[in-house]
Amino acid sequence: MKKNFYVTTPIYYASGDLHIGHTYTTTLADILNRFKKSMGMETFFLTGSDEHGQKIETKAKEAGIEPKKYVDEIVKKFKNLWELLDIKYDKFIRTTDDNHKKSVREIFSTLLNKDLIYKGNYEGLYCVSCEEFLIADQIDDEGNCKVSQTKPKMLAEETYFLRVSKFADFLTTLFGNDFLKPDSRKNEMFKNFIEPGLEDLSVTRISLKWGIPTKENPEHVIYVWLDALSNYITALGYPDTNNELFKKFWSEDTQIVQYVGKEITRFHSIYWPVILNGLGLRMPDKLISHGWILAKDTKMSKSLGNVIDPIAIINGFSSDALRFYIAKELPTERDGNFTEELFVECFNTNLANNIGNLISRTNNMITKYFDGMITSKADLSKHSLTVSGLKLIDDYVQEMNDFQINKAVDKIMKFSQELNKFIEEEKPWVLEKEGKLEKLAEVLLILQNSITIVTHLLAPILTKSYQDMLDQIGFEGKLLSIEELKKNQLTFSKITSRKIIFERIN
Ligand code: ME8
Ligand code: MG
Repeated sequence: MKKNFYVTTPIYYASGDLHIGHTYTTTLADILNRFKKSMGMETFFLTGSDEHGQKIETKAKEAGIEPKKYVDEIVKKFKNLWELLDIKYDKFIRTTDDNHKKSVREIFSTLLNKDLIYKGNYEGLYCVSCEEFLIADQIDDEGNCKVSQTKPKMLAEETYFLRVSKFADFLTTLFGNDFLKPDSRKNEMFKNFIEPGLEDLSVTRISLKWGIPTKENPEHVIYVWLDALSNYITALGYPDTNNELFKKFWSEDTQIVQYVGKEITRFHSIYWPVILNGLGLRMPDKLISHGWILAKDTKMSKSLGNVIDPIAIINGFSSDALRFYIAKELPTERDGNFTEELFVECFNTNLANNIGNLISRTNNMITKYFDGMITSKADLSKHSLTVSGLKLIDDYVQEMNDFQINKAVDKIMKFSQELNKFIEEEKPWVLEKEGKLEKLAEVLLILQNSITIVTHLLAPILTKSYQDMLDQIGFEGKLLSIEELKKNQLTFSKITSRKIIFERIN
């Protein structure tokens, strides 16, 4: 297993407020990052903002302010959202950072000097909303861009091109590995862009002012995607390859995972590997291209104006409730839904009725029957629930390592249901009446151990509740690593508080 872990999200356009869609991607990355930490890996989590390009230039003009002022305000809001959601990134990169701008110019020069970039003329349809040159398959019957539902503009101008067409063999080999998940997306990319013959990519614009000018020909401004994609390495200090961060997190000792939404898979699975190859750098290990959150069957998006505001959800419920919904109900292979009804139902079924109820009953019984502290030293290692608990840890690790966060959560929920059933079957209240105190202690000890496991496995998701969950069953001290948890030598102190953790939403 690799020692280090590096995870990235797209850098979102600083063109307006973020919505549930962006929250989805960033939360998945945060959960995975926290999980890898619990596995003992050294981790680095990058997110940020994409601040150049025509769309933002136009928005700022409409607002009557300088583009930099405009994006500064928006970035404050991005960071505020991530704080409310308890997103613990290690770095927030902005494409207007001086270091980044300088690095991007050098990346352009390096590729130009290697003759991987050349000057030519471009003519084609351009979608301003997506900042993307479109191929026929991306345009609908009415002539609109399928993603943004806006009319693309015909553009004809001098531009520098990246020689993507030279990389057909390289990309075919890369697509033969399973670096892009899921397979359906991999096949789609291969069929639409690689098989028909790769086209070189325009990487500069002369009709744009708000961007990074090239050193060689400052009239040419580096086009958003070369600027934006480079963030994943400039954030680590590239082109200074002796920088400690770069040396550590872009090395072979690091597992590099990138999360993106499916509409930008083309840039991350084709152009980004070509840029890296051109620079002589290693490839990421995994590109996870997730589906969309839909609003009434169409993509929820800023440009379509059909968005749900995550801040309203967090303020109305909690960050943990939102993080849990994302983890459990939005598997990455499919498009998903977000409605308030689904959200409330998910919370009540899983957090209130299952987990919350389990913890509350256990807390209540240990307090009532044993004054908050069980002293029994029974050996429970052979008990079927002890065995299931250890198996759950292994299954969870496997699903998480396979990026199947929702499946990992399903397994935890199932185990928790079994624990609730165990209470019904053992009837601790009868054991107490009949004076079978040794057996009663064993039942409650099993519950205490098992809940500790459940809570540890949910900790990367329920970042604000897990401490309370542990307090409620008398587990003191810091979170254990997965390795420590598996040793199953848990100790508990006297339970002194009682608190409803996930109150049912009516
Ligand atoms: O594309 N469902 O930025 P962007 C799921 N700046 N995810 C969604 C979503 C939805 N309805 N809407 C947005 C850009 N997302 C570029 C990226 S990276 C080098 C440059 C998420 O503001 C999803 O991760 O349009 C998607 O890929 C991203 O936000 C696009 O954000
Ligand atoms: Mg977009």
